[in-house]
Amino acid sequence: MVDEYGCKAKSEPSVGAANVGIVMLFQPPLPHKYASLTDDEMALAIADRKRQLGPRLVILGHHYQQDDVFRFADFTGDSLKLAQIGAQKEGVEFIVFCGVHFMAESADILTDDDVTVILPDLGAGCSMADMADLDQLEEAWEFIVDKCGANVIPITYVNSAASIKAFCGGHGGACCTSSNAGKILEWAFKQGDKIIFLPDQHLGRNTAYAMGIPLEKMVVYDPNIINGGLTAARVHEAKVLLWKGHCSVHALFTPAQCDDIRRADPSTKILVHPECTWEVVQNADLAGSTEFIIKTVREAPSGSKWAIGTEIHLVSRLTDQYPEKSVRSLAGIQCLCATMYRVDPKHLLWVLDELVEGRVVNAIRVNGETRRLALLALERMLANVPRQPVAVG
Ligand code: 13P
Ligand code: SF4
Repeated sequence: MVDEYGCKAKSEPSVGAANVGIVMLFQPPLPHKYASLTDDEMALAIADRKRQLGPRLVILGHHYQQDDVFRFADFTGDSLKLAQIGAQKEGVEFIVFCGVHFMAESADILTDDDVTVILPDLGAGCSMADMADLDQLEEAWEFIVDKCGANVIPITYVNSAASIKAFCGGHGGACCTSSNAGKILEWAFKQGDKIIFLPDQHLGRNTAYAMGIPLEKMVVYDPNIINGGLTAARVHEAKVLLWKGHCSVHALFTPAQCDDIRRADPSTKILVHPECTWEVVQNADLAGSTEFIIKTVREAPSGSKWAIGTEIHLVSRLTDQYPEKSVRSLAGIQCLCATMYRVDPKHLLWVLDELVEGRVVNAIRVNGETRRLALLALERMLANVPRQPVAVG
């Protein structure tokens, strides 16, 4: 089976393999033996399998991973840093990506064919990435470009399927992450008059607003409504068309939570991720990517107080790492990325056990034209941002 961008399965299918265009996100249940292992047994076994696989293996861990998995990562980072590390690795056979599906796809696209990228649980997707599919984007393009005649550049957050990245690459656009969205929008405005930004309306709005584009020049394109709910006049007036998608974790933060924090203790600084709504970002003292949040807390003076609007595992790790500072979540409720959480020590051990036995499970592969065009979009992004140093997490 081949999709319209030429994506097809590699010739040697692996157990539970997920291929773009033939996305098979069913995670088979693990063998019973994993259910009876204690946490300590699992930790010892993971460390042992890592030793056995040696330099053939690299484990990457996103900052939102639970600690019991994160501690086994050879490299940790946000989505940009991990994508760059994946691209720079040499002599590695297997990358076990403790993150979500779109991150593993990006790592596969950026690495050579002889590197196999493995996602420990195929159910680790991203609800935001699922809010934009290729058919919807093609329909949007037909309306905005073919019917309205707009000169628009498609920019996709890396939190998107490879087919969406490929569409952007094939139509003069690029990818971005939360740490380089401003730079990429600046680049895009040199290529065309308007931008369609997907799938996260909030990152798009927050970034464009910070560049000085007023809210009146931004319109929301709703892929579930005919013509996105827009008229040709609205498309012509707009500078930025924002795809109606969001992160279900960061959307849980509200301006009322900011007000509560300020009322309770005005000396607490509010620091949020730009996937939060515009209202929350406007209410915060600072907004920035995952790496920006970590750097800000790390460099803050002892005794400083922080309420942070991002995923709870990262916030809890910062709380533990900097006991001389007060670090708490902006929300009273647990803002947890449930799909990231699916990657647990059991699944990590399972994929490593299989590798030690010479079997590859849960390989994530992007092939054909999808790979070529998505790589173009990722490379346009990487060409516009400085290379990050590779550091052991
Ligand atoms: P970054 O890792 O780019 O900050 O994005 C956060 C996120 O939501 C990852 O899915
Ligand atoms: Fe997707 Fe949000 Fe989870 Fe990131 S935190 S993986 S954007 S659902």
